[in-house]
Amino acid sequence: SFPTRRSSDLAQIDNNYPAHSINSAYSQTMPTVLLLNGPNLNLLGTREPEIYGSMNLSEIEEQVSAVLHEHKIECETFQSNSEGELIDWLHQHKNADFLLLNPGALTHTSIGLRDAVLGIEIPFLEIHLSNVHQREEFRHHSFFSDIAVGSLVGLGVKGYLLAAQFAVDFIEQKGTSAGNR
Ligand code: DQA
Repeated sequence: SFPTRRSSDLAQIDNNYPAHSINSAYSQTMPTVLLLNGPNLNLLGTREPEIYGSMNLSEIEEQVSAVLHEHKIECETFQSNSEGELIDWLHQHKNADFLLLNPGALTHTSIGLRDAVLGIEIPFLEIHLSNVHQREEFRHHSFFSDIAVGSLVGLGVKGYLLAAQFAVDFIEQKGTSAGNR
């Protein structure tokens, strides 16, 4: 099982800390979900809209953050076109509780990003807007599916929102084993 900070810890803090220190106590203990997008996902909205839809990445990030904030979970977002930057960012955020990851084309190529995800030991969901299995053969293999908690493929933006909802449940300890999913 994975170490997670539970929302019940927050209730604990409410009782034990004087009012003036509640805010800083929250910022230290609020669970955090990472939303990480790989190469070319900065072009969402204009890039092949018949495949990837018309919503841009900031809109997706806002919607995912909104789901998480409703449950008092912080959301940190990042996108890069560079494999090294994605890896460095993950190393810098290794204390987070859950990761929502669309590796873009690095899905099919990057052992380096795979090793980074394994190295930080954060449970994660793999997300693809398009149904990669209905597309070119080279998109059928993923370096992430076998180490992810699960994958959401071909559901468009809804995949990100369902993934965020899953992260909430996971953090609240409702869906930590396959049987409970
Ligand atoms: C993608 C699918 C990848 O094959 C592609 O390289 C992307 C986007 C998706 O979200 O459908 O960049 O990850």
